[in-house]
Amino acid sequence: MKILMVCLGNICRSPLAHGILGAMAKAKGLNWTVESAGTSNWHVGHAPDSRSVRAAKKLGYDISSQRGRHFIAAFFDEYDHILVMDRSNYRAIISLATDHQQKAKVELFLADDEVEDPYYDDLLFDPVAQQIEKRCAQLIDKFSK
Ligand code: 4NP
Repeated sequence: MKILMVCLGNICRSPLAHGILGAMAKAKGLNWTVESAGTSNWHVGHAPDSRSVRAAKKLGYDISSQRGRHFIAAFFDEYDHILVMDRSNYRAIISLATDHQQKAKVELFLADDEVEDPYYDDLLFDPVAQQIEKRCAQLIDKFSK
C-alpha cells in the first residue's frame, strides 16, 4: 500500500501526516509506504518547517529528515491513495487527474473537513499536529481492513 500526503508547501501539514502515519504503520508491522508532496514547488528540497519538526517531536515523531517535493502527475500511478489537507489542495490535484481512476484516489485527509494551514500562525502547529495524529490512528484502521 502506498499513500501520499499532500498540502500546499509540503513543509507544514503533509510532512506531519507523512511522518506520523509512516511511524504508526511501521509500529504495526504494516508494509506501507507513506510519503508526501506539495501542490506548489516553493519548498522543493527543503526540510519541514521548524515549527512542524518541533510539534512532531513533542508527540514522539522525528520528521526532520524529510525533504519537500512537488506533486507530479506520475504520482497518480505510483500511489494507491492521495490524501489532501484542504479543498484548495483537492482542486489542484483533481485538475491534474486525467481519468476517473485517478480522481478516485484523491480524498480529503479528514474525510469531510480541512486541516487548517498553520503557516501564518505559530499557535496552530501543536493543535494541527494533534489533529493529524488522531486522524492517522483512524487511517490505520480504515486502510488495514
Ligand atoms: P503547508 O503550509 O501547505 O502545510 O506546507 C504552507 C507552507 C508554506 C507556505 C504556505 C503554506 N508558503 O506560503 O510558503
